[in-house]
Amino acid sequence: MQKKIKTLAAAYHTDIVAVRRHLHRHPELSYQEVKTGKYIAAQLEKLGIEHRHGIADNGVVGLIKGKNPDEKVIALRADFDALPIEEANEVVYKSENPGVMHACGHDVHTASLLGTARILQELRHEFAGTIKLIFQPAEEKLPGGASLMIAEGVLENPAPGGIYGQHVHPPLEAGTVGFRSGMYMASADELFLTVRGKGGHGAMPHNGNDPIVITAHIITALQQVVSRNADPTIPSVLTLGKINSTGGATNIIPDEVKLEGTFRTMNETWRSEAHEKMVRIAEGIAESMGGTCDFEVMKGYPFLVNDEALTARAKNAAVAFLGAENVVDLPIRMTAEDFAYYSQKMPACFYRLGTGNRARGITSPVHTPTFDIDEKALETGVGLMTWLALEELKG
Ligand code: NI
Repeated sequence: MQKKIKTLAAAYHTDIVAVRRHLHRHPELSYQEVKTGKYIAAQLEKLGIEHRHGIADNGVVGLIKGKNPDEKVIALRADFDALPIEEANEVVYKSENPGVMHACGHDVHTASLLGTARILQELRHEFAGTIKLIFQPAEEKLPGGASLMIAEGVLENPAPGGIYGQHVHPPLEAGTVGFRSGMYMASADELFLTVRGKGGHGAMPHNGNDPIVITAHIITALQQVVSRNADPTIPSVLTLGKINSTGGATNIIPDEVKLEGTFRTMNETWRSEAHEKMVRIAEGIAESMGGTCDFEVMKGYPFLVNDEALTARAKNAAVAFLGAENVVDLPIRMTAEDFAYYSQKMPACFYRLGTGNRARGITSPVHTPTFDIDEKALETGVGLMTWLALEELKG
C-alpha cells in the first residue's frame, strides 16, 4: 500500500502543482472565498467524490466511503483563505489579485488535500471506513471558519473519530515533517484598554490625575499576571503592542490613553481566570488613582492540543513512510490556529509540512510578501496524509 501511494503521489504531482498554482494566482480574503469554494467543489465533482458546498458560506465537505463505511471515520482538514499582503515574488504563478496573497500556504494545504482525495477515491475499494474531507474557509480571521463549520454540524453525520491537519513550515526542508504531542499552539485573545482621567497643563499635574501615569502603572502591574499568577507549567504570554494617547504633547497631559495587546496561553481554565485578573488589576489601579479603565477582552481561538495517542501513531506512521531522518519533533508555539477548535472536540493531530529549501533560497517565513515553497513538498504532503488516513482507518 505504501508503495502504491508513493507511486500515485508521484504520478499526480504535476496536476497537484497546477492546482496549487491556480489557487495561488487567485487568492481570496477570509470570508470572501467564493471562487475558491466553487473551485474545490468542482474538483471534487470531477473526481466523483460526494460533497456538500456552502457550509459556513464557502466551506466544502466531501466523503470518500470505503468498504464498511460506518466502521470508522477519519477527517482530514485543509484551510483555503489568503492574507491582505501584496506578493513580492516574481514567479509565473504570482497572485493576480492585488493586495491579496496566499502567504500562509493555505493554497498548499488545499491542493495537497485535493491530491490526497484523488488517491483515496482511487483506492476506496482497498480500505474500510470513511474519509471526511473538510475544506475550511476563514482561518485567518475571527471568529474563524472552523468554529462556524463545527456550529453548522461538520463534525456530525458521520462523526469522525479523529482529525488530521497539516500546515506549511518554511524552517523545515521540503521532504521532512514535524510533530508535537500535547500542548502545541496557544489560545490568543485580543486586549483593548481605554484609560480615562483628567489631563491638563503639563506644568500643573496636581490639577488632574494624569492618565499617562495611571497607564504606566497598569502596564507594569499587568506583567504580574504571567510572572506571579500563571502556573509555570502552563505557557503564558501577555504583550502590549500598542499605546496611544488622544492628544497630549510635551506640556499637555491628555485625558485618554488607549492600549492594545494580546494574551496567549494553553489552558482554558487559566485563560478565563487570567482574563478576570487582568481586568480587575487594570480597573482597580485606574480607580485607585482617580481615573477609569475600560478593558475589553476579545476572545480568539482556543489552544491547540495534539492528542497524545493519535499523534504517537501518526509520528510512527510518518517514520515508516518517510524514514526517521525526515521526521522531527517540534517545539511549542505561542501562535494560534483555528484547527484548535477541532482539537477541543475530538482527538486531533496538527503537524507541519516542511516547505523550505535553503539551497534554493526558499526560506521566507509565512505572512511575508516573499513567502514561497519548494513545490516538491506537495508530493510529501499528499502521500503522507493519504498514508496517515489509511493507517488510522486500519488501526
Ligand atoms: Ni496558516
